[in-house]
Amino acid sequence: MKKVSVCFVCLGNICRSPTAEAVMRRLVDEAGLSTQVSVDSAGTGNWHVGEAPDERAQRAGGQRGYDLASLRARQINADDFRRFDLIVAMDDANVTALHAVAPAAERDKIRLLMEFAPETAGRVVVDPYFGGAEGFEAVLDQCEAACAGLLAALRPQLLG
Ligand code: 4NP
Repeated sequence: MKKVSVCFVCLGNICRSPTAEAVMRRLVDEAGLSTQVSVDSAGTGNWHVGEAPDERAQRAGGQRGYDLASLRARQINADDFRRFDLIVAMDDANVTALHAVAPAAERDKIRLLMEFAPETAGRVVVDPYFGGAEGFEAVLDQCEAACAGLLAALRPQLLG
């Protein structure tokens, strides 16, 4: 059976990428693909390592049935580029930081999450950390749109 592994990446690993991880995990579970698709997340920075997701992300996600409470922030490292098939970034700064960490041969694994969503959903997932609750709703909307597209894009690989 074919397998694919995905690691979502943002700056702190407490707002956007844990949200994407929870959204993707639910889609994968609902599709009956949890033995084939593994999902994780990490941050490019180390400020929040070991912390649970931001309470605002937990609250907004909880209202849509996503449980983020057990997730803990960690920092991306070079070995992640060997372990994961895709490293999926939230914004351009994440991509730049990932290029600095990635072994040269693994750089083509780096993608932007919003590549997998309709263009109208936006090109990047904007950092909600310094804003209000509406920013966390926008993150969820974007993650739901893009993770559905990502799973659809992975399906041929899982069959073939
Ligand atoms: P995230 O949000 O990258 O979506 O987890 C942030 C979390 C923390 C900070 C910035 C963004 N920070 O500056 O500490």
